[in-house]
Amino acid sequence: MSPTRIIELARIIVDSTQTVDEYFTARNIASPSFGIHGSSTIIIQPEVPEVAVAHAAVIDATKELHSLMLGPTALLMNNGLNDVLGLHAIYQYKIASTFPVDEEASFKQISAACGLNEPDLRRLLRHAMTNHIFREPRDGVVAHSASSRLLIENPLINDFVGILCEERFPAAARTIDALKKYGSPKDPAQTGFFLGHNTNKGLYDKLQQRQKRSRRFAGTISAFASKIPLEPLRSGFDWGSLRNATIVDVGGGHGPVSIGLAETFPDLKFIVQDLPDVVEGAPVGFPAEVEGRVSFMIYNFLEVQPIKGARVYFFRAVFHNWPDEYRIKILRNQIPALGHGTHLIINESCLNRTESLPAFMQKRRRYGPISQLSHSR
Ligand SMILES: C[S@@+](CC[C@H](N)C(=O)[O-])C[C@H]1O[C@@H](n2cnc3c(N)ncnc32)[C@H](O)[C@@H]1O
Repeated sequence: MSPTRIIELARIIVDSTQTVDEYFTARNIASPSFGIHGSSTIIIQPEVPEVAVAHAAVIDATKELHSLMLGPTALLMNNGLNDVLGLHAIYQYKIASTFPVDEEASFKQISAACGLNEPDLRRLLRHAMTNHIFREPRDGVVAHSASSRLLIENPLINDFVGILCEERFPAAARTIDALKKYGSPKDPAQTGFFLGHNTNKGLYDKLQQRQKRSRRFAGTISAFASKIPLEPLRSGFDWGSLRNATIVDVGGGHGPVSIGLAETFPDLKFIVQDLPDVVEGAPVGFPAEVEGRVSFMIYNFLEVQPIKGARVYFFRAVFHNWPDEYRIKILRNQIPALGHGTHLIINESCLNRTESLPAFMQKRRRYGPISQLSHSR
């Protein structure tokens, strides 16, 4: 008799965990832990693809087994929607930094330090603990976990959590309302962001009005973008053939891609264009090898491109959260600038066929088309 699905999954989990564990042991990497000294990320080096496959298999199989064991009713009723509340409280009240990483504190002490009343603080923190954010080693005593520690020590992760709770969550909560009200959005003012933020502006216009939020958004997106491997982009186009050319990086944020390409191609110049607040908030100073070859410029891509005759107009991760009508408008705005032999390069993440990626990776990708409904400008 062939094994049931739950036994099949349990075997996948045992075998694949073994592969990952041997990899950690062989490389002297500490085993994953939520203790305060636990590693903040799990990194599998690309030269061992079989370990990466095993790692993805464990993530997918544990989730499927977990879901099967809950059953459809509990799965529908326990979908983790409220998880963001505890996290938002921790972010808003800066709870992680109310006591040092290697000390403990009572709910009363934390309440006094952060200004949130003790009963609600206790409810929210105990809920967050079910997701391994903080621990309660003894009744009424709170200690840090690896996740709460990260919120203190890694401002980038803390900012990312802020964007999740304060930009995305209200937009997601009203996305279906917007869909019912307006149909598929043709305009930034027809999205979940518009309803959820009670605004007549889209994401980027709204951010331009709020300097702190705008800088948090631009800084975080650029910092994460700078960690995406540039290799496929470097090798996917013959940049080396463009001798002494100027590349216009439209909607380039703080320029992580231009800086990365400039490091590899020393005779290329880059102009990074973005909205005023993003450009004004860009960090000053570049790596020495790109100094003088990367510059910033304010440009709203809903207007006609002012730099005429560059060799390349480049867009990365720009189109995914705009309605089609606006994508067309952005592209048309480049036409007057194009000359003979100009390249227009669009670099966007694509949706794979469902079966070709592990489920947890697909989930991330599939957030893109949904975010278009909730975040569009
Ligand atoms: C998802 S980010 C991508 C940033 C960058 N291309 C990268 O790959 O890291 C989208 C960028 O488009 C910019 N943007 C949005 N609306 C814009 C507009 N009307 N004109 C110019 N840039 C805009 C945003 O400020 C943001 O930097």
